[in-house]
Amino acid sequence: MNRLEEFLQENGLALIGKLSKGWTSEVFLVQDSEGRTLVLKALRDKSNRRDMVAREAGNLKLANSVGVGPRIVKADTGANVVAMEYIDGVPFSEWLGTNPPKNVLNAFIDELYSQAKRLDGIGLDHGQLAGRGHNILVRNGLPVIIDFEKASTRRKCHNVKVLDSFIFRSQNSAVVKKIREILGDEVPRIKTD
Ligand SMILES: Nc1ncnc2c1ncn2[C@@H]1O[C@H](COP(=O)(O)OP(=O)(O)O)[C@@H](O)[C@H]1O
Ligand SMILES: [Mg+2]
Repeated sequence: MNRLEEFLQENGLALIGKLSKGWTSEVFLVQDSEGRTLVLKALRDKSNRRDMVAREAGNLKLANSVGVGPRIVKADTGANVVAMEYIDGVPFSEWLGTNPPKNVLNAFIDELYSQAKRLDGIGLDHGQLAGRGHNILVRNGLPVIIDFEKASTRRKCHNVKVLDSFIFRSQNSAVVKKIREILGDEVPRIKTD
């Protein structure tokens, strides 16, 4: 039995499926003894980022302290596994492609900025908010920021700044284009204050 199987057994968890396989980690869907669905992020055997779990767990706890991110349930640095709340949502980029109405998109953006400000407030730089938009899930029209593995309290903190460019400013960005299409072409609000 490997460490992951041991972790599942010790915690009364049943494996339901796999959500993703990245370079460093695999993400599984599991069910606990009360029937709750949880997500497990497990370090891959071949990865040499041995500190992944400690970092993800520590940063996620910090984010949770300001109401950001999936709620952490358990971290096991021996088994190299973090258990957290399952977010039943879709990646931001996919959601944006469904043409959310203006008022819904505005509410989403306001909440995303509020979360980014709270992270800036505690000095936790996420580090991977932009890009393909896969670290922002959308559940019931609202954002849940995931993947705190590369987050840091040591770097200069610029979550709001990164979002500003990702959502409103990046040149030749499909995201920016789509958002302007929905919200109209007026100069976007500057939210970095
Ligand atoms: N708490 C969660 N709820 C639902 N899906 C999740 C959750 N955490 C991760 N995922 C899914 O697994 C994928 C990979 O997780 P992520 O933490 O971003 O790992 P990686 O470091 O491999 O990018 C995400 O893009 C998302 O689809
Ligand atoms: Mg990710």
